[in-house]
Amino acid sequence: MEQNLQFSTKNERILITTPIFYPNAEPHIGSVHTMVLADFYNRCFKKFGYDSLLLTGLDEHGNKVYNAGLKYLESNSNKSIMDFLNEISDKFKQICNIFHINYDKFIRTTDEDHKNRVKQLWKTLESKNLIYEGIYKGYYSLRDETYYQENELIDGKSPSGDNVKYEESKCYFLKSSIFLDQIKSFYHNKIDATLPNNRQNAITQYISKELNDICISRQNCNWGIDIPDHENDGKIYVWFDALINYLCLWENRKVIHFVGKDILIFHGLHWLIILMALNYNPFDHIIVHNWWMVDNDKMSKSLGNVINPNILVDNFGYECVRFYMIKENLINSDGQFNIELMIEYFNAFLVNKFSNLVYRVETILYKNFGNLDKKIEKNEEFQDLNNKLHNMILIGNINEYLNILFKEMDDLNAFVDKNEIWKSPELGLKIYNKIKTILNFMEPIIPTINYYWNEKNPIMLFKSKKDITI
Ligand code: MSP
Repeated sequence: MEQNLQFSTKNERILITTPIFYPNAEPHIGSVHTMVLADFYNRCFKKFGYDSLLLTGLDEHGNKVYNAGLKYLESNSNKSIMDFLNEISDKFKQICNIFHINYDKFIRTTDEDHKNRVKQLWKTLESKNLIYEGIYKGYYSLRDETYYQENELIDGKSPSGDNVKYEESKCYFLKSSIFLDQIKSFYHNKIDATLPNNRQNAITQYISKELNDICISRQNCNWGIDIPDHENDGKIYVWFDALINYLCLWENRKVIHFVGKDILIFHGLHWLIILMALNYNPFDHIIVHNWWMVDNDKMSKSLGNVINPNILVDNFGYECVRFYMIKENLINSDGQFNIELMIEYFNAFLVNKFSNLVYRVETILYKNFGNLDKKIEKNEEFQDLNNKLHNMILIGNINEYLNILFKEMDDLNAFVDKNEIWKSPELGLKIYNKIKTILNFMEPIIPTINYYWNEKNPIMLFKSKKDITI
């Protein structure tokens, strides 16, 4: 089967990134979704023998975040914008802990070393004569922190439906257009740059006609990184500032960016241009997912229609929410967040297929042979299963990763019933190692599974949940 993610050896060093989130409000399930997918991938890569790191963090500059900070100051007059950002940052870190997002670095764009890196790279681009001063004319959407041209507007609004404001201002441009051919040949030669592959069309269509130079500063912004030697000319554009975050762990790693579809062009095009301009290696892949929706609108902090992940976790446990996100994954389409379905999946898959199998077999073995050897070791006997799952990760088919695992459980459950292993417990011994192998591959899905597993002999890992109205 053809692989999409091209890695030649298992010793490859990999960097997996999430977008860095705007801390204009607390995290919602849309933010958690990108983190869960990226974390699932990072754990899988580790399991399959790669040296993989996970980078996440916060995008703390720009007017959107600043306005949220000002609002906070209205009722916290003795505090500062940084106090506001520190509070939200703690909430994001808490949510990472709750969902077991095992990041290697949590970057904040207000970190001094990040700010210095951005300024230094700005100077590098300037010294290469790739930055020039001009006038920007365009329609600005605060929610998207993006300029649009008139022909991109839909009914006078931004493509995402936000109100826009016409602005003309002095700003600095990056000579992006000179990279047009390089960008075209990058995508021509790398048909698997995005996953799903057809996402690439959006990028190639965008550049099929011409490529405008990117505006990399904002005149009317007072919360951001100063432009080196031009402190009175506004601030460095929040997207230029934010994308640079990835470079903090970039060296000698193959890079996979996880992004929502709304920010594909920023990564697939603008970021690639910045990398080319700076002479950095390009990223290797961008994995794109769709959105959690609420009544046909994207769930978003700015729209205020968000589902709070803490409430879900308090009521149903993080395992239930994380499993639902991985199962739905949104790689192929948008999804309505459906609590009933979330519970149904939990009961059908984690309880009925997985926990019951483990519990039934362990109970019989424990009763007949006493304490069980719970150690999970790499088992050559199941190399085939390992290879199949590994391949699904390289293909980027999360659904099939789950299908393979749960099919194995179905087969084992059928084996238990068919052979009535309670009558011949030695048959239970035969399948115990396979169960342990399955459990091992469940760990990227439910990271705490090993703690539970080692706790008790025998163990019912998950119990059925009832639907509750929250
Ligand atoms: N700060 C920028 C990213 C800079 S990366 C250098 C940003 N932040 S965001 O907080 O608005 O969004 C971060 C991620 O969350 C994006 O990938 C976005 O697609 C994702 N989600 C935000 N709302 C979402 C849903 N309703 N559903 C699924 N994911 C969505 O963009």
